[in-house]
Amino acid sequence: MLFAAHSGLRFLVLVGGLFVILYAAVGFFGKREYSSAMARLVSVFTGLIHLQVLVGFAALFVRPFSTILIGHIFLMIAAAVVAQFTASVVKRRPPEERSYGPHLVGAILAMVFIALGIMAIGRGVLQSTL
Ligand code: HEM
Repeated sequence: MLFAAHSGLRFLVLVGGLFVILYAAVGFFGKREYSSAMARLVSVFTGLIHLQVLVGFAALFVRPFSTILIGHIFLMIAAAVVAQFTASVVKRRPPEERSYGPHLVGAILAMVFIALGIMAIGRGVLQSTL
């Protein structure tokens, strides 16, 4: 059950990340004014990653532990840190100085870590073993 939630939640995280990348890319390359929708989208993405990390820790109790999981865990924590860090950096700026660039870079990096983290346990990014 926990493992199924963890496996399924991955798709929401990936979709959330894709939305952040697309929205930030349009804003950044189109030189648009920063919008509150960007901030909301980023909150959803970081929230989903944090939830996934929590469910992942819980899954450790119901799945057999193997050392290949260590890479998975470190890469996913790196993804959460990068996503949270870039979100916080932008949030701390005064509204007129907020920009799409950090969200774009942060979401791309987080998604790379997530893809590598899934592959670290021998699965394809969209592959499920359920
Ligand atoms: C963004 C964060 C994370 C994502 C997207 C993610 C994604 C995944 C995916 C796709 C699988 C394989 C599911 C399947 O085969 O159907 C998996 C397995 C697993 N993950 Fe994560 N994970 C994340 C973070 C974590 C963290 C932080 C932990 C633990 C602290 C963790 C623990 C596990 C465990 C125990 C398994 C089961 C491995 C097995 O028994 O085959 N995950 N994860």
